[in-house]
Amino acid sequence: MLKILVIHGPNLDLLGRREPEVYGKVTLKEINDALEELAKSKNVALTVFQSNHEGEIVSIVGKASAEFNALLINPAAYTHTSVAIRDAILSLSIPVIEVHLSNIYAREEFRSKSLISPVVKGGVYGFGLESYILGLNAAIPLAKQNATEK
Ligand code: DQA
Repeated sequence: MLKILVIHGPNLDLLGRREPEVYGKVTLKEINDALEELAKSKNVALTVFQSNHEGEIVSIVGKASAEFNALLINPAAYTHTSVAIRDAILSLSIPVIEVHLSNIYAREEFRSKSLISPVVKGGVYGFGLESYILGLNAAIPLAKQNATEK
Protein backbone atom coordinates (compact mmCIF):
# COMPACT_ATOMS: atom_id res chain seq x y z
CA MET A 1 0.00 0.00 0.00
CA LEU A 2 1.26 3.49 -0.85
CA LYS A 3 2.15 5.61 2.14
CA ILE A 4 1.96 9.40 2.14
CA LEU A 5 3.03 11.71 4.95
CA VAL A 6 1.15 14.97 5.55
CA ILE A 7 2.83 17.66 7.67
CA HIS A 8 1.06 20.76 8.93
CA GLY A 9 3.33 23.48 10.30
CA PRO A 10 2.91 26.03 13.09
CA ASN A 11 -0.44 27.56 14.04
CA LEU A 12 -2.38 25.35 11.66
CA ASP A 13 -3.81 23.65 14.74
CA LEU A 14 -5.65 26.96 15.27
CA LEU A 15 -7.51 26.88 11.95
CA GLY A 16 -11.19 27.66 12.32
CA ARG A 17 -10.60 30.51 14.75
CA ARG A 18 -7.32 31.86 13.39
CA GLU A 19 -7.76 34.83 10.99
CA PRO A 20 -10.93 33.41 9.41
CA GLU A 21 -10.94 36.27 6.90
CA VAL A 22 -7.71 34.81 5.49
CA TYR A 23 -7.98 31.08 6.14
CA GLY A 24 -11.74 30.60 6.26
CA LYS A 25 -13.59 28.65 8.91
CA VAL A 26 -12.25 25.24 8.01
CA THR A 27 -10.62 23.39 10.91
CA LEU A 28 -7.55 21.18 10.78
CA LYS A 29 -9.75 18.20 11.64
CA GLU A 30 -11.99 18.94 8.65
CA ILE A 31 -8.92 19.14 6.39
CA ASN A 32 -7.55 15.88 7.77
CA ASP A 33 -10.93 14.14 7.45
CA ALA A 34 -11.23 15.23 3.80
CA LEU A 35 -7.68 14.03 3.08
CA GLU A 36 -8.36 10.73 4.84
CA GLU A 37 -11.54 10.18 2.79
CA LEU A 38 -9.68 10.82 -0.47
CA ALA A 39 -6.78 8.60 0.60
CA LYS A 40 -9.13 5.76 1.50
CA SER A 41 -10.88 5.96 -1.86
CA LYS A 42 -7.49 5.69 -3.58
CA ASN A 43 -6.20 2.92 -1.31
CA VAL A 44 -3.45 5.09 0.15
CA ALA A 45 -2.32 5.09 3.79
CA LEU A 46 -1.95 8.59 5.25
CA THR A 47 0.07 9.62 8.26
CA VAL A 48 -0.78 13.13 9.43
CA PHE A 49 1.38 15.24 11.71
CA GLN A 50 1.12 18.82 12.99
CA SER A 51 3.82 20.65 14.90
CA ASN A 52 4.58 24.15 16.08
CA HIS A 53 8.27 23.25 16.44
CA GLU A 54 10.75 23.67 13.63
CA GLY A 55 13.22 21.05 14.90
CA GLU A 56 10.48 18.47 15.25
CA ILE A 57 9.41 19.06 11.65
CA VAL A 58 13.05 18.86 10.49
CA SER A 59 13.45 15.47 12.23
CA ILE A 60 10.23 14.03 10.78
CA VAL A 61 10.99 15.29 7.26
CA GLY A 62 14.53 13.89 7.41
CA LYS A 63 13.26 10.36 8.09
CA ALA A 64 10.39 10.46 5.59
CA SER A 65 12.09 8.66 2.68
CA ALA A 66 12.55 5.51 4.73
CA GLU A 67 8.85 5.02 5.38
CA PHE A 68 6.84 7.04 2.87
CA ASN A 69 6.40 7.36 -0.89
CA ALA A 70 5.52 11.08 -0.91
CA LEU A 71 5.31 14.08 1.40
CA LEU A 72 2.60 16.75 1.37
CA ILE A 73 3.64 19.70 3.50
CA ASN A 74 2.24 23.05 4.54
CA PRO A 75 5.26 24.53 6.32
CA ALA A 76 3.12 27.54 7.33
CA ALA A 77 5.28 30.42 8.65
CA TYR A 78 8.44 28.30 8.31
CA THR A 79 7.91 28.48 4.54
CA HIS A 80 9.43 31.93 4.65
CA THR A 81 12.24 31.35 7.15
CA SER A 82 13.40 27.77 7.48
CA VAL A 83 16.67 26.85 5.82
CA ALA A 84 16.59 23.75 8.08
CA ILE A 85 13.30 22.42 6.67
CA ARG A 86 14.49 23.21 3.14
CA ASP A 87 17.73 21.27 3.74
CA ALA A 88 15.80 18.33 5.22
CA ILE A 89 13.61 18.25 2.08
CA LEU A 90 16.74 18.29 -0.09
CA SER A 91 17.89 15.09 1.62
CA LEU A 92 14.78 13.17 0.53
CA SER A 93 14.35 10.67 -2.28
CA ILE A 94 10.55 10.98 -2.35
CA PRO A 95 8.42 13.62 -4.13
CA VAL A 96 7.43 16.61 -1.99
CA ILE A 97 4.40 18.82 -2.64
CA GLU A 98 4.03 22.21 -0.94
CA VAL A 99 0.56 23.38 0.02
CA HIS A 100 -0.86 26.67 1.28
CA LEU A 101 -4.43 27.57 2.10
CA SER A 102 -3.94 31.21 1.14
CA ASN A 103 -2.32 32.80 -1.89
CA ILE A 104 1.04 33.65 -0.33
CA TYR A 105 1.90 35.87 -3.33
CA ALA A 106 -1.10 38.13 -2.77
CA ARG A 107 -0.40 38.96 0.88
CA GLU A 108 2.37 40.73 2.79
CA GLU A 109 5.65 41.02 0.86
CA PHE A 110 7.52 38.69 3.26
CA ARG A 111 5.13 35.84 2.42
CA SER A 112 5.90 35.98 -1.29
CA LYS A 113 9.30 34.40 -0.64
CA SER A 114 9.15 30.64 -0.12
CA LEU A 115 12.42 28.93 0.78
CA ILE A 116 10.61 25.65 0.15
CA SER A 117 9.21 26.11 -3.39
CA PRO A 118 12.56 25.80 -5.21
CA VAL A 119 13.23 22.38 -3.66
CA VAL A 120 9.84 20.66 -4.10
CA LYS A 121 8.19 18.92 -7.03
CA GLY A 122 5.35 21.46 -7.11
CA GLY A 123 2.95 23.50 -5.05
CA VAL A 124 -0.69 24.46 -4.65
CA TYR A 125 -1.81 27.67 -2.96
CA GLY A 126 -4.83 29.89 -2.60
CA PHE A 127 -7.69 27.38 -2.60
CA GLY A 128 -8.21 26.74 1.10
CA LEU A 129 -8.98 23.10 1.89
CA GLU A 130 -9.02 22.40 -1.85
CA SER A 131 -5.27 23.19 -1.99
CA TYR A 132 -4.68 20.09 0.14
CA ILE A 133 -7.04 17.96 -1.98
CA LEU A 134 -5.34 19.07 -5.19
CA GLY A 135 -1.97 18.47 -3.55
CA LEU A 136 -2.88 14.95 -2.46
CA ASN A 137 -4.30 14.17 -5.91
CA ALA A 138 -0.98 15.28 -7.39
CA ALA A 139 1.01 13.32 -4.80
CA ILE A 140 -0.65 9.93 -5.41
CA PRO A 141 0.67 9.18 -8.94
CA LEU A 142 4.08 10.54 -7.90
CA ALA A 143 4.05 8.24 -4.86
CA LYS A 144 3.20 5.29 -7.14
CA GLN A 145 6.17 6.11 -9.31
CA ASN A 146 8.38 6.38 -6.22
CA ALA A 147 7.17 2.97 -4.98
CA THR A 148 8.12 1.27 -8.23
CA GLU A 149 11.59 2.84 -8.10
CA LYS A 150 12.23 1.69 -4.49
C1 DQA B 1 0.10 29.46 5.15
C2 DQA B 1 0.68 30.80 4.70
C3 DQA B 1 1.82 31.23 5.60
O1 DQA B 1 2.35 32.48 5.17
C4 DQA B 1 1.33 31.40 7.03
O2 DQA B 1 2.41 31.73 7.89
C5 DQA B 1 0.57 30.22 7.52
C6 DQA B 1 -0.33 29.53 6.63
C7 DQA B 1 -1.14 29.04 4.35
O3 DQA B 1 -1.49 27.88 4.39
O4 DQA B 1 -1.75 29.89 3.67
O5 DQA B 1 0.64 29.90 8.70
O6 DQA B 1 1.07 28.45 5.00
